[in-house]
Amino acid sequence: MPAWTYRSERLLAVEAERVFLNHWHVVGHVNDVREPGDWLSFDLLGERALVIRGKDGGLRAFHNTCRHRGSRLVEGESGHCRGALVCPFHAWVYDLDGQLKTPSQPDKFPELDAQAWGLRRVELEVWRGLLFLRFEPGPQPAIATLMARHEQELRPYPLESLQPTDGFYSSPVTPVNWKAMVDVDNECYHCPTAHPGLSDLYGRRYEEGPWIDGTHRIRGPFNASESRHELNRHYRELVAQHPEPFASLPQAWLYIGLFPVSVLVFYPESAGFYRSIPLDATTSVMTGATYRYDGESESMREARALSQEIDAAVMDEDKHVCELHFQATASRYWEHAILGDSEKALREHHDMLRALIPELNATREPGSFESDARGA
Ligand code: FES
Ligand SMILES: [Fe+2]
Repeated sequence: MPAWTYRSERLLAVEAERVFLNHWHVVGHVNDVREPGDWLSFDLLGERALVIRGKDGGLRAFHNTCRHRGSRLVEGESGHCRGALVCPFHAWVYDLDGQLKTPSQPDKFPELDAQAWGLRRVELEVWRGLLFLRFEPGPQPAIATLMARHEQELRPYPLESLQPTDGFYSSPVTPVNWKAMVDVDNECYHCPTAHPGLSDLYGRRYEEGPWIDGTHRIRGPFNASESRHELNRHYRELVAQHPEPFASLPQAWLYIGLFPVSVLVFYPESAGFYRSIPLDATTSVMTGATYRYDGESESMREARALSQEIDAAVMDEDKHVCELHFQATASRYWEHAILGDSEKALREHHDMLRALIPELNATREPGSFESDARGA
């Protein structure tokens, strides 16, 4: 991908329209919003959504935007509201099913229809307990269809009953384009140099499949030989102590990528997800959550703390190398990369982006984008 594609705010506006708003993103789990009034939020490129459990037990997603003057209805990543959503600006009140209950000082407004002035819906899907949303209809099929080819492999993991742990996490704001963050996640060619700890855990047996129909599988079975790093050794000792049915889960770290920026994570003691989220063309964050399995044993609880520690180190290492890559895109002497066979998945991810945005093939930033012509 040419250097300009990593620095253009105009391109990001096109990516918002063709890549981000109309594709699925994992946003949480049904157990993050267990009780009526529980909500979680998801922000993406100026858009914001909330997922809330209704009084009828149903889950719905809405734009997190008041119909009066557009204030956020809920602030923060998750929370609970009692009985109704009350706008923090002028206190319009919405039922948990999104209908407008009443504006404050209703005599100052004409009669407002509860449905027509209710919260705008956002498309939401639940797959094995995990929540996915998209702001616009798009080219992807239902999540169950996308995940069908992984169904058998994921069947042993008890996903429906996952339990939240520490809420949502966020990396430090990273001074890179979102593609630099995703690129480093789409190849493990850098793993032996950048991730000595991870290489000691599973590096030698790392398997990476191609991107097929918008999903990608990576699996790292633990090395056959004993790990040399103390942290990994201790972690693997704990994994060996897990009770059934968890003892039968593969001794591996399994990742399923979902185009464009979601990754689902399956470990012997926990599961979760993360996403690379652009803030603007040159800053991004990685956000996600880790869940424990229902019926977690002591060894699993300890192993979960250690796998999070290993992951935190990997995240730091990735942050560093993606910055090294991204900084090159500011140089007039660096034009584009050459990718080897071990970076096949990265190339495939770029191919999917190029199919949606043909301008990405241009060596210099085009004067106009197809969507400019459409008036988008
Ligand atoms: S913006 Fe929500 S009540 Fe005014
Ligand atoms: Fe990495």
